[in-house]
Amino acid sequence: MEGRLVVSLFLLLGFCSHFAVGGGSRKSKGHLNVGFYNHSCPRVEEIVGQTVMRHVMFNPGISAGLIRLHFHDCFIRGCDASILLDATPTGEPTEKESQANGHTLRGLDVIDEAKAQLEAECPSTVSCADILAFAARDAAVLAGLPRYPVLSGRRDGNVSLAYNTIKLPSPFASAEELTAVFAKKGITQEEMVVLSGAHSIGQAHCPSFDYRLHNFKPEQRQDPSIDPLYAEYLKVACPEPGSWGADFMMSDGTVKLDSITSNVLDNGYYAGLTMGRGLLTSDQALMKNKKTRKIVRRMAFNPWQWAIKFGNAMHRLGAVDVLMGDEGEVRRFCRHVN
Ligand code: HEM
Ligand SMILES: *[C@@H]1O[C@H](CO)[C@@H](O)[C@H](O)[C@H]1NC(C)=O
Ligand SMILES: *[C@@H]1O[C@H](CO)[C@@H](O)[C@H](O)[C@H]1NC(C)=O
Repeated sequence: MEGRLVVSLFLLLGFCSHFAVGGGSRKSKGHLNVGFYNHSCPRVEEIVGQTVMRHVMFNPGISAGLIRLHFHDCFIRGCDASILLDATPTGEPTEKESQANGHTLRGLDVIDEAKAQLEAECPSTVSCADILAFAARDAAVLAGLPRYPVLSGRRDGNVSLAYNTIKLPSPFASAEELTAVFAKKGITQEEMVVLSGAHSIGQAHCPSFDYRLHNFKPEQRQDPSIDPLYAEYLKVACPEPGSWGADFMMSDGTVKLDSITSNVLDNGYYAGLTMGRGLLTSDQALMKNKKTRKIVRRMAFNPWQWAIKFGNAMHRLGAVDVLMGDEGEVRRFCRHVN
């Protein structure tokens, strides 16, 4: 634990550029570095950064989409860009087509655009998995987080199966379940709570949480852990299906995950949780467990500490079960295997 902290600090200060990735890696051979493309494609981070910026200026919500893409990629078969594949050789549904992802993914075209530019600049060199990691960082920075260095040297996988997405955490999960799901990826409970702070930007679709408003339990229509005022606001955005309100629905069926500073990646998410304003069951659940509640309170009061920990936790997330060296391939087009 202490060693990891020191390594992260070094990285943060930019002293250390070369170290072995612990825990998460599938095989011991090879390692990720900061600056893997220094010689082979020196402008890679600049190119990805500019592409991300162009899109985020046009649509700030893209930041959230890009961060979530990297997370969902890393959780299924490791950070191998499996989430980007459009089809599998066998024709089975892909991760993209799963219920957990489906139409909720945002930012796929940003990755395509960055990849096209990189293929022109340095063909068959930069993996799609690394583009996802760079883009997630750039998105976080544009949303207000201090810049953190990104490990690179990942290779792309060639398998993507919708049924594997059952390994993603469920929005209906308890803090204990979330802790267990992240532990399987070598991510600690504190890191899980810290990463959940990503829900300080972006949106969720009504079906991810609206049972909390309309049909919570036979004896209780509404989830008692929701702030009642917030619940009234949510019911306007997500009227009960089949109800009168639904016929006049004014919203697009999405709600901001953080109702106060919805485009700023900050610790406002945690303040919201302490007031019963977590949107998903899995958000508010962090206040129900004694240990995670303590972490939430700490993060709510320490914006700077949270920001540093978030960068470090993204490092850990970005190293989960990666392919390296001669494993996998470098895709030429992120939507298809070569
Ligand atoms: C702790 C377990 C987690 C659960 C159960 C969860 C679940 C969800 C759900 C259901 C949505 C809404 C999707 C929709 O309806 O459009 C969402 C959105 C989002 N999640 Fe998570 N998530 C978790 C952790 C994370 C982590 C670790 C990150 C990144 C570090 C993350 C980043 C995001 C972002 C940025 C959005 C907004 C996406 C957008 O606006 O396009 N989430 N999450
Ligand atoms: C790449 O360049 C950066 C900046 O000069 C340096 O910090 C890093 O150590 C280099 N990485 C590799 C793998 O050479
Ligand atoms: C999948 O990747 C491996 C390398 O890990 C490669 O040998 C194999 O040919 C690839 N399969 C397909 C269908 O591209």
